[in-house]
Amino acid sequence: MQTGYTAAQLRAAAADAVRAPSMHNTQPWRFRLRDGAIEVLTDPARRLPATDPSGWGIRIACGAALFNLRLALAVAGVPATVRLRPYPAEPDVLARLWPDTPRRPTPTEQALHTAIPRRFSNRAPFWPDPVPADVRWRLGEAARAEQCWLELVVGTSAVTAFAEIARGAHRVLERDATYRAERDEWVRTTPAPDGVPAAAGGPRGEPQDLLPSRGFGGRDRAPGRDFEPEPLVAVLGSPGNTAVDQVIAGQALQRVLLTATDAGVSASMLSQPIEVPSAREQLRLSLGRFGTPQMVMRIGYGQPGWPTPRRDVDEVLDLPVRP
Ligand SMILES: Cc1cc2nc3c(=O)[nH]c(=O)nc-3n(C[C@H](O)[C@H](O)[C@H](O)COP(=O)(O)O)c2cc1C
Repeated sequence: MQTGYTAAQLRAAAADAVRAPSMHNTQPWRFRLRDGAIEVLTDPARRLPATDPSGWGIRIACGAALFNLRLALAVAGVPATVRLRPYPAEPDVLARLWPDTPRRPTPTEQALHTAIPRRFSNRAPFWPDPVPADVRWRLGEAARAEQCWLELVVGTSAVTAFAEIARGAHRVLERDATYRAERDEWVRTTPAPDGVPAAAGGPRGEPQDLLPSRGFGGRDRAPGRDFEPEPLVAVLGSPGNTAVDQVIAGQALQRVLLTATDAGVSASMLSQPIEVPSAREQLRLSLGRFGTPQMVMRIGYGQPGWPTPRRDVDEVLDLPVRP
């Protein structure tokens, strides 16, 4: 059995890890090798102070990157045992991965791993075709496999009630000029290795839309038209809401998103009702679930799209200096 990971194994796995989603595509992660262990750290330089004051979004994104890292190592035949927040005195270190007993990757790990480069946030309107029951079931299983739950918001009255909470949260956030300025800072109209390309931002929101869109400066659309028929809305939740729970939720989020990609289904995220505490509480109460909502997704059959850019993997690696 391997007694520690190598720099080459870290670099290869990190190339998959960086494909994870992150708020405004800030890519707030770092990866390092310490005494043969791979560690996942937050990057404080990539915080969003106005949008994510508590660091929840960073921990979700790093959790998602950690899930990709776990998959990549498993598929490379060097699966990891993971300890979350291993050093209480170093809260920026979110996870420590150590080689576990080697084994063959499972078919699920292989399928999810191949989905990594194909996943992207699809903010365009989805077709009216419903997401089939077996896919819905697989998405729920994906969340459960990572100790979380996925609640599908089904039926016109439930979706309307959810949409009201989401639009209310969106209005609260939009009133804050620093929040708006921070978002605008991360919208890219020319090629860049981070931030949200305006072309991936989805069509511009309209007052009659059921769900709020983040306002990444997307394309104009014909006024007065509905964005899409009733979308499938899914809420991902975790049993608790500690920093560790949020890293767990990030892993579950990525597992759900990759499962959707593998099933040929698109998704985008909608976190306004998570970011506003009163909206999050309303959402929690409306679902009647034990635990805390951590992310909302819109899921459906989408138009083709493309993955967004990432920084070069070497920019996020801290490797021991070679003698
Ligand atoms: C914590 C978190 C919150 C997010 N919130 C939203 C959101 O409210 N609206 C949205 O369109 N995308 C949201 N996203 C998606 C990111 O904008 C997206 O992952 C990033 O731009 C990278 O693009 P990709 O998902 O296509 O790889 C969120 C992602 C994370 C991790």
